Amino acid sequence: MRTRVAIIGAGPAGLLLSQLLHDRGIDAVLLEARDRAYCEGRQRAGMLEQATVDVLREAGAANRLDREGLVHHGIHLRFAGRDRHIDFPSRTGGRSVTVYGQTEIVKDLIAKRVAEGARMYFDAPVTAIEGIDGDAPRVRFLRDGVEEVLECDLVAGCDGFHGVSRGAIPADVLKIHERVHPFAWLGILADVAPSTDDLIYAYNERGFALHSMRSRAVSRLYLQVDPDADLADWPDERIWAELRERLALPGWTLDEGPIRERSITPMRSFVAEPMSFGRLFLAGDAAHIVPPTGAKGLNLAMADVRVLARACEEFFLAGSRAGLDGYSDACLRRVWRAEQFSYWMTTLLHARGDADAFERRCQEAQLAYLADSDAAMATLAENYVGYTWAD
Ligand code: FAD
Ligand code: PHB
Repeated sequence: MRTRVAIIGAGPAGLLLSQLLHDRGIDAVLLEARDRAYCEGRQRAGMLEQATVDVLREAGAANRLDREGLVHHGIHLRFAGRDRHIDFPSRTGGRSVTVYGQTEIVKDLIAKRVAEGARMYFDAPVTAIEGIDGDAPRVRFLRDGVEEVLECDLVAGCDGFHGVSRGAIPADVLKIHERVHPFAWLGILADVAPSTDDLIYAYNERGFALHSMRSRAVSRLYLQVDPDADLADWPDERIWAELRERLALPGWTLDEGPIRERSITPMRSFVAEPMSFGRLFLAGDAAHIVPPTGAKGLNLAMADVRVLARACEEFFLAGSRAGLDGYSDACLRRVWRAEQFSYWMTTLLHARGDADAFERRCQEAQLAYLADSDAAMATLAENYVGYTWAD
């Protein structure tokens, strides 16, 4: 089999790239290790920056998002019995964010790609990537247990943190930056109307809690837990009791409902540099991970792909490698901004068992400053809606 761009992975990054290349008339084949139902069912992110909504519109994949997405103009910061609403539009030149589940983005993109007859193979794990330092890379993958080879001009590694692409970059070229945070998030999806208009980020001595949502009838909530926590130790009543306690505010009540989904996610900051080598280009979680506190993971993945699609267009339609050569640097500038913001939000809002009284007091002072200073709130707002460069 032969194509111009071999795309590995049908997460948001790979699917969007497949769509953007198709729209530019560039042939691509997408290979995904898991089946379609698995990809469509994986519960993950939900908060979209304006730039992410815009690129999905550009890709013609935002009809349902425009109907069902919930536009949010701020967040609540809750701590020490206080609730400070941080308004975004007034601090960011009118920008907002949108809640729409990653699962729904994946369903919308897959449906569109299938309807357009894309060459997209599920249950087709990639086993090896060869020849990326030459001009004729080859991707080996399995179909029905039989090895096949995909010949291509470029490889897009959109196969997430546990994929094979990153490992194809020589170890002496790749620089890894990593922090594993000493907590995890227990996330639930509950069939109950959200008890809040905008998302609530809550700091409590017992740990962080987040009240998000998926629709007017479905709530998404998270609790900071130990990294080795076991779901078996978290029956429904314990989850709700802990959420009530951490989100507590006089005069406010948390509505509860049946829990439909639950999972525990470890928290990691990770960047692999450079994001490209020869004819291989990493995008999304394959190259970088942020802790979810800043809601940046999915947005970064979409931003990478937007840059990569333009670089591919320059390469195939105008014969210039400039965009591809600048890809890694262009992405890493945004990635490191998001890494720093996510790291800051994470240390600000989580309770650390190993923190001494001095560190806890500093954390409380930082929270109070954020809730009282317009400059501090503007910094949070600017980063949360998606920092942009005047370029
Ligand atoms: P992925 O979505 O990981 O997609 C990669 C795809 O590649 C997968 O479908 C995988 O099956 C496929 N693949 C892997 N190996 C191979 C192979 N060898 N061959 C072929 N295909 C392969 N972000 C937030 O902002 N908020 C959140 O609440 C949040 N929660 C998260 C919870 C979890 C459990 C995880 C893992 C991530 C979460 N994230 C969250 C991050 C966000 O979901 C990711 O940043 C986003 O999914 C990145 O998209 P991606 O397309 O780069 O990678
Ligand atoms: C979510 O809705 O899943 C979500 C929202 C904001 C975050 C993380 C997760 O920071």
